[in-house]
Amino acid sequence: MSTPSSTPNTKGLAGVTAGETHICTVGKEGVGLTYFGYGIHDLCEHCGFDEVSYLLLHGELPSAAELSTWQAELVARRELPDALKDTLAAIPKDAHPMDVLRTGVSMLGCLEPEDMFESGPRDGREVAVRLLAAMPGMLCFWYHAAHHGKRIELDSGEPTLAGHFAKLLSQAEPDPLIRQVLDTSLILYAEHEFNASTFTGRIVTSTLSDMYSAVTAAIGALRGPLHGGANEAAMALIEQFDSPDAAEAAVMEMLAKKTKIMGFGHRVYKISDPRSDIIQEWSRKLSEQRAENGDPTPLYAVSERIHAVLKREKNLFPNLDFYSASAYHFCGIPTEMFTPIFVLSRVTGWTAHNLEQRANNRLIRPSADYVGPPTRNVTPLAERS
Ligand code: COA
Repeated sequence: MSTPSSTPNTKGLAGVTAGETHICTVGKEGVGLTYFGYGIHDLCEHCGFDEVSYLLLHGELPSAAELSTWQAELVARRELPDALKDTLAAIPKDAHPMDVLRTGVSMLGCLEPEDMFESGPRDGREVAVRLLAAMPGMLCFWYHAAHHGKRIELDSGEPTLAGHFAKLLSQAEPDPLIRQVLDTSLILYAEHEFNASTFTGRIVTSTLSDMYSAVTAAIGALRGPLHGGANEAAMALIEQFDSPDAAEAAVMEMLAKKTKIMGFGHRVYKISDPRSDIIQEWSRKLSEQRAENGDPTPLYAVSERIHAVLKREKNLFPNLDFYSASAYHFCGIPTEMFTPIFVLSRVTGWTAHNLEQRANNRLIRPSADYVGPPTRNVTPLAERS
């Protein structure tokens, strides 16, 4: 039932330029990643995530005074309405936390809707800031209510988003190394041009829908293992092995069966993912720290061997998700929280893109090559066999 396509093969929109953006470049000269012109290595070396979230929502890095104001603004928007807390507390323990975030964002959109059709104080930018500030609390409130029957306080006293999340999740003072790894990882996950979830959000925005709807849709797109869910799938792979040799044997079998190895490959990068080296280095450091504390683990060595096998056999490179899995695991983060952490960060990129789409909007509505049956007449029901 297929006829030749009238246009070049654009399956998955691979290689298609679908619009303009000021926000980010991915894979220029094969390897680069920039946010508003700043390279990812530069940002990780010199900035914290809160500076980067400011950059993504304002277009410029903050001065020291602007950063303090920004952090105070976010701290002031962390508390959740009681009705949202009650909704979160009612979500079962075995729900996936991505579904919790999707539901939490949607519920907040009912309680604090965006003023769409009359000019009011809660515009799209205000909703973007509210979501960035409130989502770590949503996730951790549900987690402790569902797993420990405890309604936690959301006032962590931590000025940074990474510290706030780490403290709410662990309900303890976070280790400085863990705080730093989380902060860097939030920078790495913050923005990535027209990736599937961001593009989903831009499509929703292009219909003149509200910010909550666009973010809810983006969370749904991010959940799948070909996108954000790859970090959890990578963890499920590496934790099966107690040695690099066992990992190599199993991965060779998977490749022979043409099974995809999650956390490898990329649609746009062709040589390497510039974010991977940065998170790999943190994973190595955390693994060494574990060994020094008398708790050695083969996970980093297993990951390195899988990396070497994929390079040797398929010339494939790890993307950000692969070493994020072991890094997060070493930070004591439960595996099902890996993709939700991606959301806590990427909401900056999503909302920046939604605001950019609004500023120069045209409905996103592509066409399809029809490959179905030829035009035909309806046979009345009584005459159909
Ligand atoms: N493991 C094994 N083989 C892989 C692979 C992987 N992770 N990623 C790509 N390949 C192979 C494909 O099997 C295919 O080989 P073939 O031409 O012999 O059939 C070729 O590389 C092209 O892959 P394809 O899936 O068509 O590329 P894509 O551009 O459509 O997909 C991804 C890009 C990211 C979806 C893909 O690399 C993938 O599924 N990776 C694993 C999931 C993941 O880590 N996602 C997070 C992305 S940041």
